Amino acid sequence: MTPSAFAYVDGVLHAERVSAVDLAEQFGTPLYVYSRAALTDAWQAYAGACQGRRASVHVAVKANSNLAVLNVFARLGAGFDIVSSGELARVLAAGGKAENTVFSGVAKRADEMREALIAGVKCFNVESIPELDRLNAVAASLGKRAPVSLRVNPDVDAKTHPYISTGLKSNKFGIAFDEARTAYRTAAAMPHLNVIGIDCHIGSQITEVAPYLDAIDKLLELVEQIETDGATLSHIDVGGGLGITYLDETPPEIGHFVRTLLDHIEARGHGQREVYFEPGRSLVGNAGVMLTRVEFLKPGAEKNFAIVDAAMNDLARPAMYEAFHAIAPVVQHAAGTTPGQIYDVVGPVCESGDWLGRDRHLAIHPGELLAVHSAGAYGFTMSSNYNTRPRAAEIMVDGDQAHVVRAREEVTQLFAQEAVLPA
Ligand code: LLP
Repeated sequence: MTPSAFAYVDGVLHAERVSAVDLAEQFGTPLYVYSRAALTDAWQAYAGACQGRRASVHVAVKANSNLAVLNVFARLGAGFDIVSSGELARVLAAGGKAENTVFSGVAKRADEMREALIAGVKCFNVESIPELDRLNAVAASLGKRAPVSLRVNPDVDAKTHPYISTGLKSNKFGIAFDEARTAYRTAAAMPHLNVIGIDCHIGSQITEVAPYLDAIDKLLELVEQIETDGATLSHIDVGGGLGITYLDETPPEIGHFVRTLLDHIEARGHGQREVYFEPGRSLVGNAGVMLTRVEFLKPGAEKNFAIVDAAMNDLARPAMYEAFHAIAPVVQHAAGTTPGQIYDVVGPVCESGDWLGRDRHLAIHPGELLAVHSAGAYGFTMSSNYNTRPRAAEIMVDGDQAHVVRAREEVTQLFAQEAVLPA
């Protein structure tokens, strides 16, 4: 990740070569700001480690689905991982290719399968027998054979937040390990499916390699059994999930992570198979910040509050997962000029869960700007219009240029699809 993508120049936070103060003044707040260089660097770290290997990288669109972000990756030759026909439409609109796109998700609708089959996606990651039945029927109605991988739940503990841990028996995801071999036999017998791979996704914000190696070992054991039953699996999709540094986490560096997994698969005698990666957060998380302005400072008996103009609708992760995002003033005060205090940084929404940071030491005044860091993943994509708050604008900085890649919503747009009853 580009350490310099968001850095202070003479006490003012910059996105690449553009001042965050200028961005906030020109485009208003709350404001998502992405760095093209940081996106590119993260991609290159994956692509570099895959070079010369049988491996490909599919950007998990759910982490950040802005067209400009997807387009930056598409221009770099990325594949994509989608979970809806909406995301497929975005990928195609952004210049991505269906034949480099894998379709994940627990419950794809028949119409979504249809669209994806017509577009010609690379693979459907199927998660249950009923979903296999549905895909077989949809493919039959189109006279096609759908390329299929089964998402197997390897039952490993990714040691992450329970809401974003997905590879345990207790999770709703994937086909149980013990049932997978039978499921493969069932799939192989369906005339409109072409079974080509196996996949898993054990969770998100994973900061260790070990759970991946455990999951891969279980998958490979299964692959060997499945192939004795007569199928041929040409790829292994190891999912996404690599974590980033929000505070003091020390996830493996992307290149090291990729090489470790590829070497492990090769060492286990499976080097002939293509390995797919589906990263989201590690590509975009630290390539974005959210800028917000302090409305009021509100001292309290037990807590001081910095009330800002961004809220849980703009960045849901703290409210949803008690997630930590570093928060820092955009303009640093000279040492000793502004006494620091401990604040809870909260939004204007009438919910106690509406907070962005707790117990943060900040030297700030009302009207000043704060940067909420590591907001590029699951920031804008999880934002909502709660309280009829228009969603933030999104900007992409490229060197010394700032481009509006999503205009701020207008209030009238928010109810344009609504209607009142006839008189
Ligand atoms: N592939 C599949 C099948 C997934 O379900 C996910 C994310 C990914 C890839 C990408 O995972 P990543 O590399 O971004 O960890 N909203 C939560 C994260 C939910 C992740 C869901 N699945 C958050 O804000 O932390």
